Amino acid sequence: VRALTVLGLETSCDETAASVVRLHPSEMGGRAEVLSSVVHSQIDDHAAYGGVVPEIAARSHVEMIAEVTRRAMAEVDMGYDGLDGIAATAGPGLVGGVMVGLSFGKAAALARGLPLVAVNHLEGHAVSARLGAEVAYPFLLLLVSGGHCQLLEVRGIGDMSRIGATIDDAAGEAFDKIAKALGLGYPGGPALERLAAQGDGSKIDLPRALLGRKDCDFSFSGLKTAAFRIAQTCETDQDKADLADAVQNAIARQLSDRSERALAAYAETHDHRLFVVAGGVAANKTIRATLEATAAKHGFDFLAPPMAYCTDNAAMIALAGAERLALGLTSDIDVVARPRWPL
Ligand code: KG4
Ligand code: ZN
Repeated sequence: VRALTVLGLETSCDETAASVVRLHPSEMGGRAEVLSSVVHSQIDDHAAYGGVVPEIAARSHVEMIAEVTRRAMAEVDMGYDGLDGIAATAGPGLVGGVMVGLSFGKAAALARGLPLVAVNHLEGHAVSARLGAEVAYPFLLLLVSGGHCQLLEVRGIGDMSRIGATIDDAAGEAFDKIAKALGLGYPGGPALERLAAQGDGSKIDLPRALLGRKDCDFSFSGLKTAAFRIAQTCETDQDKADLADAVQNAIARQLSDRSERALAAYAETHDHRLFVVAGGVAANKTIRATLEATAAKHGFDFLAPPMAYCTDNAAMIALAGAERLALGLTSDIDVVARPRWPL
């Protein structure tokens, strides 16, 4: 099978991103080569508001998408003639932003006579570990980002089933909201991780949600409420650091506890035992280490994407697009942007 080269576009939240990825398809999924990956973060535009403002995000995507795409194309030694298709995130996400990248992708596909592939952002995260290593399907996936927290059985592109999900907040959302209560900047996850490194949370008692439940669901609202309450009693920077450490450990423990159930069930029906964690929260070192230990305990290999591909990027969208293209799964030009789009 010949290699497929795809331009990917990502505009579903607060990064405007474009990337060119080449896939060498094989029966097991194939090997990916990232030829370029450009990410323009809007953090500075939103920082003053303590979170992403959808209207500002959409306008910023309009301002940046052409330039970011031009840079991603300039870094590869070929023009649009070298592409086999154009992939764009079509949801889920902030729909004003999604429309910018999707419309830009449609226009480019029409102008160049290339096939368009509408990609689910979550499917992008699901394949992101394949950007750093040749990972064969199937695998068990923990997807933890700002908007999502779920366990998925990934059999291949377009062939994934959810075996657990959060019943309230996403893990990254919990990081962000608790970080805000501690007076840390946006985005809160990385800031809370830095603060936690100075603290010792072992004396702080936080609720353990859904413990002992038989399913693989998550809940972070009880932890969030308790952390908010304790944050109000923090007097010193050390108090704050101790709370940050306790919160990080509590989130890591819940992720590992719920994953353990999924690992045990998965191992009963699969000989190829691989556990992958992806999404922005997978950039957290404590969480990676905790999940790696949990995987090892159950006889699973463990993999997380390279740091740069944990948080939002377009390389994962280009790769998901290339894998879809290899299967002939292209989209009509009138495909719509979807604010909600469960896998
Ligand atoms: O995947 P992503 O970039 O966007 C979504 O699709 O949601 O994930 C962003 C989320 C944010 O909530 C951010 O705080 C969190 O990932 N995050 C982290 C870390 N880096 C990013 N959370 C904990 N520790 C980190 N180092
Ligand atoms: Zn994401």
